[in-house]
Amino acid sequence: MPAEGVELTPSPKLLSQNEIVHLANLFVSSGVDKIRLTGGEPTIRKDIDEICLQLSNLKGLKTLAMTTNGIALARKLLKLKECGLTSVNISLDTLVPAKFEFMTGRKGHERVMESINAAIDCGYNPVKVNCDLIRGFNVDEICDFIELTGDKPINIRFIEFMPFDGNVWNVKKLVPYLEMLDRVAKKFTELKRLQDHSTDTAKNFKIDGHLGTVSFITSTTEHFCAGCNRLRLLADGNFKICLFGTSELFEFRNLIIAVKVRHLVNGLSLCHIAYVVCYVAQGKILLSSYAGMFDIAKTANRPMIHIGG
Ligand SMILES: C[S@@+](CC[C@H](N)C(=O)[O-])C[C@H]1O[C@@H](n2cnc3c(N)ncnc32)[C@H](O)[C@@H]1O
Repeated sequence: MPAEGVELTPSPKLLSQNEIVHLANLFVSSGVDKIRLTGGEPTIRKDIDEICLQLSNLKGLKTLAMTTNGIALARKLLKLKECGLTSVNISLDTLVPAKFEFMTGRKGHERVMESINAAIDCGYNPVKVNCDLIRGFNVDEICDFIELTGDKPINIRFIEFMPFDGNVWNVKKLVPYLEMLDRVAKKFTELKRLQDHSTDTAKNFKIDGHLGTVSFITSTTEHFCAGCNRLRLLADGNFKICLFGTSELFEFRNLIIAVKVRHLVNGLSLCHIAYVVCYVAQGKILLSSYAGMFDIAKTANRPMIHIGG
């Protein structure tokens, strides 16, 4: 979130619950088996339970995940789990309440910790915790975060700080993966690399004797474009095939209306759906890698709050 905030998108411009489910159905019926709800902040959407319920009922969907700031999660989690939420990522960049307030501009550290514990109590395993590392802010906390994995089923995910509009990125704030690894390996000498899945965006590790795991997401210094199969549908109906890509392929919203109309009028929706999914997937395949961090830092892109992590 840029320090000056962002203009909120008016509700009529956001995808409705029906449109979200309809689009999700297109993709799941074409082979997508994992959906992550992110944002913005997914837990503040009033119909989030219903959206989860409908998505989790899509035939072929194996994982329904959510990335959240954890502020309101603890009180909503049981219901979300009942509605089919299978996996949770909670963002937490510091274990120090005063730093949390400084960074996020509000209190709430205790509530995020409560949400992490609530997720563990609800049986999520692992509970993923996203920690963006920023030099001069939280690098000294790396090992404290790892201590959390000792007796809890937490997967702590250290993410390299990425440039987006309004986040005052500069290379001095970036903590490269190799430096993170070095700091961790010095203290936790039993750190072992796990076998990653070919489409993992994270490099995964385990420490002997720890219940949880440690991961590094090296988007900035070691891109993982070759294995990345993520597609992002934005809250306003636009579409991104790459987090760093500036082009948003087309207004999906108009297309949904076309699909609906065709479906109603002459039942051509299946052809149309196949066309849409092929078009989007081809765009992804053609994108062999992004341009590199310095080019990205100079390129206009939406602020992260308007994309979704
Ligand atoms: C954009 S947030 C949206 C979901 C939710 N509001 C939250 O706070 O988790 C999703 C994730 O994006 C990541 N993120 C945001 N800005 C980032 C940046 N500049 N560099 C790296 N990761 C970033 C954070 O780690 C966060 O976990």
